[in-house]
Amino acid sequence: MKNYDWIQHVRGESLFVDDITPPEGTLHAAVFSSPIAHGKIINLDLEIAKKLNDVIEIFTAKDIPGENQIGAIIPDEQLLADGILDFCGQPIAIVVAKDNFSAHQAVKQIKLEFQEYSAVTDAREAFQKGQLIIPPQTFSLGDADSAWKDCDLIVEGTAESGGQEHIYLETQGSFAFPVEGGGIKIISSTQAPTTVQRAAARILNLPMNKVEVDVLRLGGGFGGKEDQATAWACMTALAAFKLKRPVKIILNRQEDIRMTGKRHPYSSDFKIGLTKEGKILAYEVTFYQNAGAAADLATAILDRTLFHCTNSYFIPNVKATAYCCKTNLPPNTAFRGFGGPQGMFVIESAIYKAAEKLGVDPMVIQEKNLLSEDDEFPYGQKTKYCMARPSWKKAIGKYNLGEMKNQVEKFNLENKIFKKGLALMPICFGISFTNTMLNQANALVHVYTDGSIGISTGAIEMGQGVNMKLRQVAATIFSVDISRVKIETTNTSRAANTSATAASSGADLNGKAVQIACNNILERLIKSAQQELKSNETDQIEVKDEIVYLNGNQTELTWNILVQKSYAKRTSLSSQAHYATPGIHFDKSKVKGEPFAYHVYGTAIIQVTVDCLRGTYEIDFVKVVHDFGKSMNPIIDRSQAEGAIMQGIGWMTIEEVIYTKYGKLLTDSMSTYKVPDVYFTPKEIEVDFLDNPNPSAAIFNSKAIGEPPLMYGIGIYFSLCNAIKAFRSNAEIKNSAPMTNEKLLLMLYEPAGQNLKRKLKNKMTVK
Ligand code: MTE
Ligand code: HPA
Ligand code: MOS
Repeated sequence: MKNYDWIQHVRGESLFVDDITPPEGTLHAAVFSSPIAHGKIINLDLEIAKKLNDVIEIFTAKDIPGENQIGAIIPDEQLLADGILDFCGQPIAIVVAKDNFSAHQAVKQIKLEFQEYSAVTDAREAFQKGQLIIPPQTFSLGDADSAWKDCDLIVEGTAESGGQEHIYLETQGSFAFPVEGGGIKIISSTQAPTTVQRAAARILNLPMNKVEVDVLRLGGGFGGKEDQATAWACMTALAAFKLKRPVKIILNRQEDIRMTGKRHPYSSDFKIGLTKEGKILAYEVTFYQNAGAAADLATAILDRTLFHCTNSYFIPNVKATAYCCKTNLPPNTAFRGFGGPQGMFVIESAIYKAAEKLGVDPMVIQEKNLLSEDDEFPYGQKTKYCMARPSWKKAIGKYNLGEMKNQVEKFNLENKIFKKGLALMPICFGISFTNTMLNQANALVHVYTDGSIGISTGAIEMGQGVNMKLRQVAATIFSVDISRVKIETTNTSRAANTSATAASSGADLNGKAVQIACNNILERLIKSAQQELKSNETDQIEVKDEIVYLNGNQTELTWNILVQKSYAKRTSLSSQAHYATPGIHFDKSKVKGEPFAYHVYGTAIIQVTVDCLRGTYEIDFVKVVHDFGKSMNPIIDRSQAEGAIMQGIGWMTIEEVIYTKYGKLLTDSMSTYKVPDVYFTPKEIEVDFLDNPNPSAAIFNSKAIGEPPLMYGIGIYFSLCNAIKAFRSNAEIKNSAPMTNEKLLLMLYEPAGQNLKRKLKNKMTVK
């Protein structure tokens, strides 16, 4: 069962926003943005730019007919800055010209006079200055304060994890045109058409029914288009609305990297208490999240950090606090894992430190504390069908951990410069939007009189294969060939009030809605067949492989004939259905509930080889046992796992987002921001399916796959730490991701490394 889209992709036939042939007279927009991270606009001079050839118009905040506001959760983000500048790259004006080149030329001719304020780029500094976007959030279980006295060992420390740029292949973009009656239609590269619709309606002061948003597919989103596709869509909508002409904007790569937010960097403090046997009794953690200049999705992401702060471990006493800190960076945003990885990196760091102190391998502590059936999470939900221990057990057995460890030990004894490191990484990820309201979806299914089927839902295809899975749902329920099923564009007029395709729940939520709608139609078709075959109530009728069976016997009715006869009898061949995940709830005031439909588990083993002379490293293998439920599509699911693992590894190793202390991004291109390439991928990735039907509310007993495997990547950090310690047993391990080659080299040779760094720094200041 292949992913249908892939055939078009490799032929270059799939269309993206920039591929849609624009109507004649389409205008092109480019954005003038803030050159400083913090300050005030004194004067904006557009005169020279406006007079340039082929420039049509320049729009600023005062041209917005509605509210200059795009904040989806908290209204704290202007579309176009009109007073205070809060980050480098903050949009101020939209230049509209006859072509893209002229628009960009004009941007350069805009003159901005400003007063500069000091910028805060660090989350802890923002915290100290009281710059919090929402009040602190706390999760607790048991009584951490009184549990410390029962601990044989208490370890405290800090952990840092960096940002991450999405590098979706298709940059942000949008195309909008006016439609009859004063409305607007937007073709957007967004994971959340309804979010775009709502924001554009607000900007233009139109009712939502006058804003239609349509999405064919995305060239990747990874969370970066859950909230941050909105601005560009609103800009084209504004320009098209004002000029009564089609307007298009496509960011180039550098603009995209500079102006959009990334994964939230976190700085965290932890305190972990254990028995001398390695049982964790208490865990206290404080997260400082670097939100950037506006809330965006930061508050929801902060929630998920708290939900996943104990990863796949049962810890009886937990106190977790999180601060959403406002800084002068572009507003950070969703990124695969949605705050979960940041929380999980800290508990893994704490376990690593505790293991050092206890003189045991971290995997001893990891294994001892894995979740079992009926264990309670800090948010009150209990594990059900818990696969934490089964996946761990299978991984160490199937891949022969004992032999792996021997091999590593042998290699490290025999080699001076090259050292190997091995680490395990168990994961546990909750499936459902943590905001219960968002766990709903709808579908509109049509069966046409030739027997072909068209489906509209709120799901966005962004490479993850959700369209293929939705086709499978319809093909399975109707028992027709999959080629009969077409997934239509995602359109707000056909699927209204939809949640973003996010939280790994796209296939679950929309698949369930499709299932309900198809069953509605099938029920009518069966009734109609009953009449055609003059059978009575107790007879069993079913459609199998496009043929109607009566009590197990083939009849003369085929799918096509049945559809035509049903239509002739004036039977509805369409159905709209709504699905809401049953049973989930969360009480925000008590911070307890059952927010997740189910959890996804798994265990990875990661081995690396470090060149201790150069600080470079290679990934020997990643071997995983993952709980896919009953996979609907093993090829798609395996590719999702592999892609996510690689993205997680990139975040932990070579991907480094660097801002100057003035809030200017230094890593704003593919030459300065390194993502894993084919040479960096593990020599071997093995993904074993823990074949285990999921009894919870999921489509066809599968399990969501989009995000969970990303967190296996966290394991590589500790594989690298182990290799460092094999080179120098007293090396001081810092929990500061990413572990770039430079950082690793310094850790190998510190304090010599520190001295070198100090010398270099002194030299630089003298100059
Ligand atoms: N896979 C590809 N190829 N491209 C993407 O943009 N996004 C990821 C994941 N896998 C993404 C991807 C993210 S962040 C999420 S939340 C899920 O897909 C969303 O899709 P789903 O809910 O259908 O799994
Ligand atoms: N996950 C992903 N995206 C989201 C969530 C979530 O839990 N909540 C809101 N957007
Ligand atoms: Mo995914 S970060 O939930 O879009």
